[in-house]
Amino acid sequence: MQTEFCKQLGIELPIFAFTHCRDVVVAVSKAGGIGVLGAVGFTADQLAEELDWIDAHIGDHIYGVDVAIPQKYEGMEETSAEDLVKMLKAAIPEQHRQFAEQLLKDHGVPEIPDNDGEVSLSFSAIQAQVLVDEALTRPNCRMIVNALGTPPEDIVEQVHGAGRLIGALAGRLKHGLHHKNACLDFIVCQGSEGGGHAGEVTSMVLWPQMVDAVAPLPVLAAGGIADGRQMLAAMSMGVSGVWLGSMWLNSVEASAEPAQRESYMAATSEDTVRSRAWTGKTARMLKNSWTEAWEQPDTPDPLPMPLQGYLTFDAVRRTHKYAGSGDCQKVAFNPIGQVVGQINSSESCRDIVFRLLTQYSEALDHLNTIMPQE
Ligand SMILES: Cc1cc2nc3c(=O)[nH]c(=O)nc-3n(C[C@H](O)[C@H](O)[C@H](O)COP(=O)(O)O)c2cc1C
Repeated sequence: MQTEFCKQLGIELPIFAFTHCRDVVVAVSKAGGIGVLGAVGFTADQLAEELDWIDAHIGDHIYGVDVAIPQKYEGMEETSAEDLVKMLKAAIPEQHRQFAEQLLKDHGVPEIPDNDGEVSLSFSAIQAQVLVDEALTRPNCRMIVNALGTPPEDIVEQVHGAGRLIGALAGRLKHGLHHKNACLDFIVCQGSEGGGHAGEVTSMVLWPQMVDAVAPLPVLAAGGIADGRQMLAAMSMGVSGVWLGSMWLNSVEASAEPAQRESYMAATSEDTVRSRAWTGKTARMLKNSWTEAWEQPDTPDPLPMPLQGYLTFDAVRRTHKYAGSGDCQKVAFNPIGQVVGQINSSESCRDIVFRLLTQYSEALDHLNTIMPQE
């Protein structure tokens, strides 16, 4: 099962796990794939703490770190992170603040105490830079991945100079070609059914086109993979591996709250929506009263990224911390893909990896039985 890209990285299996949870990173890397830690919600110090833990538990295995530098965003011209945050917070209209606050109140979501610790949201090059600097101090961090755009040239050079690989997500062919022109090492091609920020074109249609368009660059297939049959379909299109996000959210190792887990288990594939209501860019998530409220004609329109993210930041924290209280899940931020309909139990990450492989070979056997014999 080792693809050329696996050999280049030094991993056994072409299974890539995007996650915000360090335990998942370690478990997937130890199972033979590779865990990639989403760092968008960490300060540099918090990321250092997470990576200390990963380094202490991962042994000789390797991992990656994922940041989010959008191609374009409000405040791109700011030269300090403090000024950027100050400017963004000041630019949020009062009407939007009141609307968000009222939604939380109406659903009984408690406020967070002032002393609840430092929090961060890094949707800019300035903020991502310190995260990349930290990641590159770690010898076992072998790849940096960027969401929402092509990473800036100096970061690409920095990562290459440190002897690591750099890739980026792409939900459209033109984004993949842009990444290729910027000398990235691989593309994570995400179809519309995937969790988090996603475009319009489905995986089945986008993956083969991306493989052809950016060849010989390795492409990882993302969006809509939860079992080995879907993995086989992706691999048959010439990708170098599969990149899963949703499937780990309800794993034994994930840090999800019980109420969040219940929401995942209860949802079908029809219960997600692509909405701008949390980050300002279209992302796939569980549909609920929050996503519906922002779509009404008489309510405020979501702000552009990253303003909407700063506006909803408090709501993300509150609905996560108090996930089980009041009607919290009705206004909670639960990014997840359509594969949520395939999440019906909580498995360990190792079991997920082995299940993918078992189902993959069963599906391959099935294909061989229906091939015409000479
Ligand atoms: C909860 C959640 C958060 C995500 N956040 C990010 C992110 O910060 N950076 C990123 O590159 N991708 C992010 N993604 C997208 C994943 O990397 C991945 O491409 C996607 O989940 C694949 O589709 P799937 O959900 O069908 O497995 C996120 C996905 C989920 C489910």
